[in-house]
Amino acid sequence: MSDSLPLLLRAARGELVERTPVWMMRQAGRYMKVYRDLRDRYPSFRERSENPDLSYEISMQPFEAFQPDGVILFSDILTPLPGMGIDFDIVESKGPLIQEPIRSLSQIEALHPLEPNETMPFVGEVLGRLRESVGNKAAVLGFVGAPWTLAAYVVEGKSSKNYAVIKAMAFQQPDLLHRLLNHFAESIATYLRYQIDAGAQVVQMFDSWAGQLSPIDYDTFAAPYQKRVVELVKATHPDTPMILYISGSAGVLERMGSTGVDIVSLDWTVDMADGCARLPKHLGVQGNVDPGLLFGTPEAIRERIVDAVRKAKGRRHILNLGHGILPGTPEDNARVFFETGKTVNDLIGSAA
Ligand code: CP3
Repeated sequence: MSDSLPLLLRAARGELVERTPVWMMRQAGRYMKVYRDLRDRYPSFRERSENPDLSYEISMQPFEAFQPDGVILFSDILTPLPGMGIDFDIVESKGPLIQEPIRSLSQIEALHPLEPNETMPFVGEVLGRLRESVGNKAAVLGFVGAPWTLAAYVVEGKSSKNYAVIKAMAFQQPDLLHRLLNHFAESIATYLRYQIDAGAQVVQMFDSWAGQLSPIDYDTFAAPYQKRVVELVKATHPDTPMILYISGSAGVLERMGSTGVDIVSLDWTVDMADGCARLPKHLGVQGNVDPGLLFGTPEAIRERIVDAVRKAKGRRHILNLGHGILPGTPEDNARVFFETGKTVNDLIGSAA
């Protein structure tokens, strides 16, 4: 059915589909030898993600190797920051680094509203090229970081274990943090609209570190801004399915289900059946398979895919991992994940 819209897009919209679509968070990256080879030639992450030829080539690497049902833009949640006036780098084996963390009112007031056309035209170019290349064989996915998670990086200045700096701000100077979160919500919504206009057919918002908040604080610092982004994007692009991902989300699942997104992406600390029971019927689910399983045997991987698909039966479902694929994962096991994913409905003798 090469003339119909991509399977993942139709599934995400809640249409009845012939099989469960499959893609993987972080499907382009270090576990692939072609990526590591390219990284040796282009050691700067900023260059790999901001040079449109490189970003396009890397986005296509997993599609060429495994034909997933979704092709995600190779970029980072931090990529829009320079366009708002915040410089960053990604340091090998350390992760993101913000040289001048944002901690004062004057710094927040100096931030620019994001104008993606001006400051990140490479993203639009790559999304357009991806759409042209994959046609209806896969859906092109865009993504952003949610305000809380972006704030965690810019306030802490780097990846954090305990989020002490941003929590000090949250619990001493909440108004300051709310100003920053507001800024991000507006700019991130603008950025998502830009991605959709450029070719993204399904978009995912990563609030990766919102699971670090108690539910009561999630309601104050994460949920309102997730909702604001969804509301702004849905106002202009109501037909683009939106997915929300949080790591460590088991304590806030019901809350994720009331943000206005179409699909909730589960991590692996919740059973798929329990996760489904805790979300309204009209919402779809994604994810849930422990990325660590891809260090296991092919049989173990297949077993868990079957388990997830069985338990999600009866609702819209996109097969994925519960977080990004881990560096060091054997590529053959990634292949098992994709291949099993594409045949799992036959294995268990049911449609999606
Ligand atoms: O899914 C994909 O294939 C698209 C690529 C993608 C990257 N980052 C590429 C990347 C996506 C969707 C992201 C999102 C992202 N970036 C998130 C949300 C997803 C999640 O994991 O929760 C977060 C929190 C970030 C911030 C960030 N960028 C981290 C924590 C790191 C990893 C640091 C490390 O060394 O492990 C990065 C760097 C990064 N972004 C890499 C990749 C492939 C690794 C660096 C490299 O390849 O050189």
